[in-house]
Amino acid sequence: MRPPSSLFEPEAPCIELAEGFFLLPAFIDTAALLTQIDLIAAQTAFRHMQVGGGKRMSVAMTNCGPWGWTSSSSGYQYSRTDPLTDRPWPAMPDSFMALAQKAAATAGFGHFEPDACLVNRYASGASLGLHQDRDEQDLGQPIVSVSIGAAATFQLGGLKRSEPLRTLPLHDGDVLVWGGPSRLRFHGVQALKPTAGGPDTRHNLTFRKAK
Ligand code: SIN
Ligand code: FE2
Repeated sequence: MRPPSSLFEPEAPCIELAEGFFLLPAFIDTAALLTQIDLIAAQTAFRHMQVGGGKRMSVAMTNCGPWGWTSSSSGYQYSRTDPLTDRPWPAMPDSFMALAQKAAATAGFGHFEPDACLVNRYASGASLGLHQDRDEQDLGQPIVSVSIGAAATFQLGGLKRSEPLRTLPLHDGDVLVWGGPSRLRFHGVQALKPTAGGPDTRHNLTFRKAK
């Protein structure tokens, strides 16, 4: 939750955790984002995508925007259409685009033009293994990642898989922005452990310039 705006609204806090890697704590009120996610999921369902060896990801995913990230037995790619429906992904809501651009600009990345938004859904126990976001053509553009709902533990690594990991708690409304020398940092999310009385699901939006 952001404090009520005033005439003298302070600049959003922005913490640089490593060169080019920023945390914007409680950057956005997420209620309206969840409404949009429901509208997207009604058109293009969350699914557990296949990875190598016939396994499926524990995180459920869908996309909005001109390009959508997909994984299948033949690898990772961005596609213009949803392989489940053969139809284009739902349009990226204007509010998503505005949020992504504002977050990027707050972290010092002007002119961010995302053309893909991956929507992740974590139920209890879902995790995302350590990986790099490297399927995008222009690595000069940052990644903007928005946390919604249940808190999670993010793992932040280095440019090599073997480098030590830092853990970072992420809460509802937090935004991460990474680019420049941190653009190819390894990262992941530990198995979700919802706390009693809190939301039991986490959603995450990652905005990318895919093409
Ligand atoms: C991702 O790496 O694509 C998602 C990260 C997250 O869920 O916070
Ligand atoms: Fe990622």
